[in-house]
Amino acid sequence: MGKINCIGILTSGGDAPGMNAAIRAVTRAGIAAGLKVKGIYRGYEGLINNEIQEFTTENVSNIIQRGGTILKTARSKEFLTPEGRKKAYDNMVEQGIDALIIIGGNGSLEGARIFAEEFDVPCIGLPGTIDNDIACTDYTIGYDTAMNTALEMIDKLRDTTQSHDRCSVVEVMGRKAGFIAVNVAIAVGAEAVITLERPYDLDAIAAKMVKTKNEKGGKHHFIIVVAEGVGQTENISRTLQEMTGIESRVTVLGHVQRGGSPTLRDRVIATEMGYHAVELLEQGIGNRIVGLKDGKVYDIDLQEGLAMKKPFIDQRYDIFYDTAY
Ligand code: F6P
Repeated sequence: MGKINCIGILTSGGDAPGMNAAIRAVTRAGIAAGLKVKGIYRGYEGLINNEIQEFTTENVSNIIQRGGTILKTARSKEFLTPEGRKKAYDNMVEQGIDALIIIGGNGSLEGARIFAEEFDVPCIGLPGTIDNDIACTDYTIGYDTAMNTALEMIDKLRDTTQSHDRCSVVEVMGRKAGFIAVNVAIAVGAEAVITLERPYDLDAIAAKMVKTKNEKGGKHHFIIVVAEGVGQTENISRTLQEMTGIESRVTVLGHVQRGGSPTLRDRVIATEMGYHAVELLEQGIGNRIVGLKDGKVYDIDLQEGLAMKKPFIDQRYDIFYDTAY
């Protein structure tokens, strides 16, 4: 790999709080190391459409506390085609960009892997998704903020659920993963959690609800957390209501979980990851994913990292049920 003089940075796929902190860290560390940093807008789409701007440190001032991504984001269909990727490459060359830092989820990192392979462009991936579903890292940028947002919302929901002696079935994000669901369920003291990774038994949940309700001093309201990927939230609510006779309401938290000012954890980890990505490129190392392992920032080969399978948090899931009610 030749010497790198100019880094392009983009955010791709679903946004996640903390992406701005990573953009800031890359820009500042890059400039401090004597490199040019160019911001690419709207992810791979912006690379194809040449929406690129050279950044100074001012472009990234006052953004560390802001949710979303100042670079905007997109899920580019054109980048999935060889013609789209060729256009992206031609623009990169024209802009004098020698290496890319991509912040996004599995799909975005897979795009980086293909692009790096096709055009021999050094790419560094940073894990950015609220779902925490990237196998080669214990942590993805945005996960902590999203869980804290869900926590705050469900705490509010419990107030009204309790006043009405109802059941609230709350859907949290996680298209393919139940990490947010399990952690949030523990933290809000939910009565049940339903995820894709484990089978669920509505008869057992309903029986427990009725038993608890009939006990002297027992609970008359219930919070059931469902991961989005299960795809059965309405059904689960209706079925539980029919089985228990307890009035049930559905709340879908949705995209609110993707917004908001990042927590300290997201800001710090995003900063460390962004800094590490620049360090790698400075040393002439490309095609890595930066991740967190055992509390430390590390990096792994793009292809190897993407081929890994993420284990579910089985122990935490079991702890949830052993302490539920
Ligand atoms: O991958 C993050 C995520 O927030 C998922 O949890 C959710 O299913 C999806 O993105 C929603 O994506 P979109 O922004 O396309 O609605």
